[in-house]
Order: sequence, then structure tokens, then C-alpha cells
Amino acid sequence: MDFARAVNDWFREHGRDLPWRREEFSPWGILVSEFMLQQTPVARVVPRLAEWLDRWPTPSDLAAATAGDAVRAWGRLGYPRRALNLHATAVVITEKHHGAVPSSIEELLALPGVGDYTARAVAVFAHRQRHPVVDINVRRVLARAVNGVADAGAPTRRDFAAMDAVLPSDDGEALIANAAIMELGAIVCTARAPRCGDCPITNACEWRRAGYPTFDGRRAAVQKKFAGSDRQVRGLILAELRASDVPVTRTEVDLVWPDVIQRERALAGLISDRLVVGDSTVGYSLPS
Ligand code: ADE
Repeated sequence: MDFARAVNDWFREHGRDLPWRREEFSPWGILVSEFMLQQTPVARVVPRLAEWLDRWPTPSDLAAATAGDAVRAWGRLGYPRRALNLHATAVVITEKHHGAVPSSIEELLALPGVGDYTARAVAVFAHRQRHPVVDINVRRVLARAVNGVADAGAPTRRDFAAMDAVLPSDDGEALIANAAIMELGAIVCTARAPRCGDCPITNACEWRRAGYPTFDGRRAAVQKKFAGSDRQVRGLILAELRASDVPVTRTEVDLVWPDVIQRERALAGLISDRLVVGDSTVGYSLPS
């Protein structure tokens, strides 16, 4: 409890002023921000989020657009299946929830692309409920401060109970603690270069008390290298389609990447993920 109070005091002074932390930010804005933040850094999300919400200020606005519009507007945020899922989620919210972002964890988990993290983040930050919100930054802070180890290892269901145990009982303070512990992990208790001199709980930190032992367990999976990856090739093909109002020809696709096997694999993957439609006869486009 003192742990959360210290982190909350620190957050009120040092937390970044991010759009989704403002009082007036809508539940829909929070949902969109959490989709974007799933695998993309804050600095890249902020401008794209503002554009997105200007264009589609409510779920029904997005539901009225095509899935291809969503993929095009996703731009270069990466992991573009999130754009398709967000569009599908907007359709479900419009058809099943009268256009309002649902508030129960169960209903949130039923939305396409919404998992344990996003469901709780939306229930907490948009609907001000008390739940543990656990991302990779939170897991690292708890691993260090509470368990005295350098890293959290693979995620488990126990992470929720561990976070719940440090959250204040008051809903409002618990909301702030969820954001504050995440922020502490993002900007102070970082994976590679923790800034313990700036940490509000340094005196209570078990990792520090133990003399900063190095991690000897299995680390959580990290994002694979982008350069030369299938993900890069998929991104190049999608960029070509995004830039064109007419179907892109086979020859044009062939020009984006020299390795034919990798290119074919990327294109087939995009088609099976429904991010791309078409074939070599009619050409390739974003879905409608
Ligand atoms: N606040 C709420 N969710 C967040 C996230 N995923 N990243 C940064 N700040 C957040």
C-alpha cells in the first residue's frame, strides 16, 4: 500500500501528459489508444491516434468505413492485423452494444483483438473500475520491487494477483496506481538501464536490497529483428497497396522485395490474414 502511495505521488509529479490520460478522453479514444499501444511505442502512437479519432470519433463512424480504410489509416504503426481487429471491434460495438464501449471484462474480452491486457486497461482507464492492469513494464517493476529478481520471465495468471495485491482498495487510487506502475516501468525501471536514482520506491526495492542479481530465468519473448524479416516484406507490400487507389499488379508487387520465396510467403500471409484481397489476374488491393 505504501508502495502504491509512493508511486502515485511520483506519477502525479513526473508522469507524462499523454492524451489518453486527460479527463475528457472518451472510452472509445482509450480503446483505440490501447490497440495502438499494444506493440507500438508511445511517441509513434500519439500523432496517429489524433488523426484516427478526428476521422472516426465514435465506434459507429469507424464501423461505417471499410476494413481497407482502417488498414490504410493504420499507416506504418506495424502489426496491421490490429487495424482489422479494431474495425471488427467497432462493428461489434455498433451492432451489439448500441455504439458504446462495453464495460464488463467479459464483454470486452469478446471483442476481436481484445485480450487480458486490453480488456482490463479499458475497464480501468475508460470505465474507472478496479482491476489489475498488467503489461510487460508492470511485470518488470513487480519482479524487481517485490520479488527481488531482475526480470519477470514468461507471463502467467499469477501476475494479476501480484498486481492486485499492491493496488490500493480505492477505485480512483487504484486507477492511478495502474497507470503509475506502468509509467515507472516505462521511464525509470527500464529493462536495460534502470534509473534507480529517480525511483520513488528505491528504498523498498527487493532487487536493490539483494544487490541487483542478474536474471537467470527464461526471459519473455522479445520482438524479433525487423530488418530482413517477413514482417518488413509484408509492410512493404502493404505500403504499396496503401499508396494506390487501383489494384496493384503482380509485377509491382514483385518489385518491392528481391527474394521471391520470402515475397511469396509475405503475400500469402497477408491474403490469409485478410489484409489483402485479389490475385495475380485482378491485382491486389486492401479489403473493402
Ligand atoms: N496508459 C494507459 N495504457 C498505457 C499504455 N499502454 N502505455 C502507456 N501509457 C498508458
